[in-house]
Amino acid sequence: MTKRKFFVTTPIYYVNDAPHIGHAYTTILADVLARFHRALGDDVFFLTGLDEHGQKVQQAAEKRGLAPKAHCDDLAPRFQDLWAKLEISHDDFIRTTEPRHVKVVQGVLQAVYDKGDIYQKEYEGLYSVAEERFITEKEAASGQFREVKPLKEKNWFFKMSRYQEQLVSYIEANPDLIRPEHRRNEMLGFLRQPLGDLCISRPKSRLAWGIEIPFDRDYVTYVWFDALINYITAPGYLSDGEKFARWWPASVQLIGKDILTTHCVYWTTMLFSLGLDLPRTIFAHGWWLVGDGEGHKMSKSLGNVVNPLDLIELYGVDALRYYLMAEMTLGADSNFTPENFIKRYNSDLANDFGNLLNRVSGLIGRYFEGNVPAPGTLTPPDLEISSQGAALGEKVEALLLQYKVDAAINEIMNLIRAVNKYMEVQAPWKLAKTDLAAAGRVLYVATEALRLAAVLLRAVMPGKAQQLLEILGAAGTGLAWGGLAAGTKLQAHPPLFPRIETEKKQ
Ligand code: ME8
Ligand code: MG
Repeated sequence: MTKRKFFVTTPIYYVNDAPHIGHAYTTILADVLARFHRALGDDVFFLTGLDEHGQKVQQAAEKRGLAPKAHCDDLAPRFQDLWAKLEISHDDFIRTTEPRHVKVVQGVLQAVYDKGDIYQKEYEGLYSVAEERFITEKEAASGQFREVKPLKEKNWFFKMSRYQEQLVSYIEANPDLIRPEHRRNEMLGFLRQPLGDLCISRPKSRLAWGIEIPFDRDYVTYVWFDALINYITAPGYLSDGEKFARWWPASVQLIGKDILTTHCVYWTTMLFSLGLDLPRTIFAHGWWLVGDGEGHKMSKSLGNVVNPLDLIELYGVDALRYYLMAEMTLGADSNFTPENFIKRYNSDLANDFGNLLNRVSGLIGRYFEGNVPAPGTLTPPDLEISSQGAALGEKVEALLLQYKVDAAINEIMNLIRAVNKYMEVQAPWKLAKTDLAAAGRVLYVATEALRLAAVLLRAVMPGKAQQLLEILGAAGTGLAWGGLAAGTKLQAHPPLFPRIETEKKQ
């Protein structure tokens, strides 16, 4: 039997900008899904990378007195190093300046041109220098575009309009293509207006830093036309037919809501023109907002960018991954505040999770010389925990397959919270004085539930979950109830999630 495949992508981020928690969020989300599918036994391809062409890169390089490629080479490690620190398990990291990508972009341009889907015309309109594209009158009137000027220029256009009807029918027939639902409706609404053609060239006289158009050497490609193609370059389009057939179409392309149209309209129509399948799902998540509770978008100019490196330094990688995944409901916006971070850390990780480990390992140390006691025959309260534990894997799987990551984590934490209550009621520290076997049974059930939670949390917190499993001597165990072996010696350990003490206000 061939294994199921799971191909997940993130946007390729602009190399110029310092990575912040927004970039970290999408990449960690992809990583959690990738790790989860690997644990299910699926064949996984996880792709991320960098978008390195365009005017902003050219300008920033000029400012530093560097060639654009040298500038990119200098900046790319900011992302690569952060992904390493965040334990991102991508299978490929693509940079759009790599020869493998340049070749595919030129191949695509030639193929789309040969098909008759690219034509030249002189265009006069409003151009946003900041956005690096022509904008419509309506967009200009919205006031959301900076550095707008009239521009008259001969350029190459992609016949996007030709595919409008096909796209609308496709979106209607495939409710999973654009998720969540309100983004799908937003795109269907957008597509009720006639779709224009897409300007896909820039004259070299104005912008040299891009991929040269193979049939007109005076032009380079528009940065988005170039960037989107990364999703097929990496799995081997035009270079490795077998690999490409294996992976394309992508299972899910994760994006933020800021780049919905480029993915749901530009990208899909490009794929139509090439005669390639569309991705199964394009999932657009919401924004991390920061600041004073009023929810500002992070931006360099507002000076409110949250640097993930600071949070890793302070609280550790796993706490950051946990927070970002548990806090945001996929599709909605979330507010990031340090207070909120600390609150969730202390309540979920330090209190509920960490304390349970301290408690069971302390009691097993005291009454069972550190060896996991035998469960014996379970009584009704034990069975409540064991059946909740045994059902957890399937529940979490169903939620994750629906991209409900926060709900999946909450299910896992519900088990932990139920075990904490069970411990309070059963009070094994009292039982130990009168009925040692009963105390052993309770401690087995509690520790086994903790083990199951750790197995499931491996995708979210690979480091701490593994550490916990090692403490329990259960590193290779799976999701069936009873994986914890009686008689196993627990390893000594410091608190897994030490409480964050905040200074009290005067
Ligand atoms: O748009 N909250 O790159 P980019 C949540 N190069 N996610 C956020 C976020 C926030 N505040 N800010 C950024 C580009 N993101 C193009 C993409 S793809 C072919 C080309 C995440 O560096 C989110 O995933 O501006 C968003 O879509 C992406 O970073 C934009 O990254
Ligand atoms: Mg952006």
